Amino acid sequence: MAKIALLGSGFIARFYADSLHGLRSRDRIVTVYGRRKESAEQLARDYQVPGWTTSLEEAINDPEADAAVIALPNYLHEEAVMACVKAKKAILCTKPLGRNAAEALRMLRAVENAGLFHGYLEDLLYTPKTLKALETVRKGALGEVLWTRSREAHPGPHSDWFWDSEAAGGGAIVDLGCHCIEIGRAYIGKDIKPVEVMCWADTLVKPIEAEDNAVGLVRYANGAVSQFEVSWTFRGGLDLRDEVMGSEGTIWVNNFLRTGFEIFTSGQGSGYVAEKAESSQGWVFPVGDEVHELGYNTMFAEMFNCMESGAAPAETFYDGYIVNAVMDAAYRSAGTGQWEPVQLEVWRGKESAEKRGLAKEYDDRHYLIKEEMTHYGTVKLILKEKQTGRIIEVEKQPGDNPDLPGEDI
Ligand SMILES: NC(=O)c1ccc[n+]([C@@H]2O[C@H](COP(=O)([O-])OP(=O)(O)OC[C@H]3O[C@@H](n4cnc5c(N)ncnc54)[C@H](O)[C@@H]3O)[C@@H](O)[C@H]2O)c1
Repeated sequence: MAKIALLGSGFIARFYADSLHGLRSRDRIVTVYGRRKESAEQLARDYQVPGWTTSLEEAINDPEADAAVIALPNYLHEEAVMACVKAKKAILCTKPLGRNAAEALRMLRAVENAGLFHGYLEDLLYTPKTLKALETVRKGALGEVLWTRSREAHPGPHSDWFWDSEAAGGGAIVDLGCHCIEIGRAYIGKDIKPVEVMCWADTLVKPIEAEDNAVGLVRYANGAVSQFEVSWTFRGGLDLRDEVMGSEGTIWVNNFLRTGFEIFTSGQGSGYVAEKAESSQGWVFPVGDEVHELGYNTMFAEMFNCMESGAAPAETFYDGYIVNAVMDAAYRSAGTGQWEPVQLEVWRGKESAEKRGLAKEYDDRHYLIKEEMTHYGTVKLILKEKQTGRIIEVEKQPGDNPDLPGEDI
């Protein structure tokens, strides 16, 4: 059983509390910190938490708590982590780990030097669909992952501090891109080095300093590319979609918004539909079990199982640091308009990775570029002669073995 100090009593803290206390969980929140007395007290009441406080130090040092869950604005993550390190508590921190890689690296070093259990609460890697998709990729069903695309777009965040680039560390990239970047990284392989980033970012709609829209490409050492698309001005709800393209297969994942559950309502008796839903009238697109479908249940189960068994969870502060370093490169690229290198002071994967030879042999003399059944009943082969490099086209009947032109080797 984990005994938890919940640091924060806002939006994500309540999702976390739903998950931590849901379904007769044996893990319990023993105290909750909130900046405002009313919100801390209310969360404590709603979730039967015995203690609440408006002092961060007091919550972290609660002798009943053996782990702290950080659910605070981005600019308070480092301060909270350092206070937890001082108190020698296990730490689970929400995303993004830092406002930038320098903050994230200080946090990573502090928890590792103190030998503390640490988890990075990247819930979108724990959604039921993503877990199944990742397992499918690991078993080889997609062959080599060539590119990935991850999109998170909604009409903008729900609290003032997100919109202040100093407090948040940026705009839509740091808020949403962190999810997309880690999703792409997980599909491509966490031991493959992210090398450089090309990113477009702009402030298209909102009167803010930070970017409200961005698209970026992260190039990995093995030639794979992951694309992230983020928006704080998307109309229509919370769009969470991922694609993986491999040499042998494809995955499309829709985690939210259009998952096959659709309701029409005149608006009578309407209320909450789903996170960031913009309408509760007409056709609406709810989510069956938001807490589970966003990955919170599986995430906390894995985190606390690992804490108890002394293992490292799938997502640690190291992963949070890598994501911050990729985002730093994205911001540099958005400024220069150039590919910018990902600067990693700490890297624990492979230094380099070869592009794998994916060309298919047709026979001793030819590579197969493409085989296609035509609508008029023949099969077209596009081949490359190994010796001359010439590309040829051969038409055959299904099942035939045609004589191919070209010299014998
Ligand atoms: N899917 C996810 O993983 C996910 C989703 C939403 C938010 N988050 C992350 O959770 C963290 C908190 O976000 P949130 O949406 O819960 O924010 P929020 O504004 O709803 O809540 C912030 C909490 O921090 C407390 N706080 C303490 N000092 C504060 C200060 N000076 N200014 C503002 N709040 C202060 C508030 O009392 C409140 O309890 C952020 O790092 C955010 O990126 C993660």
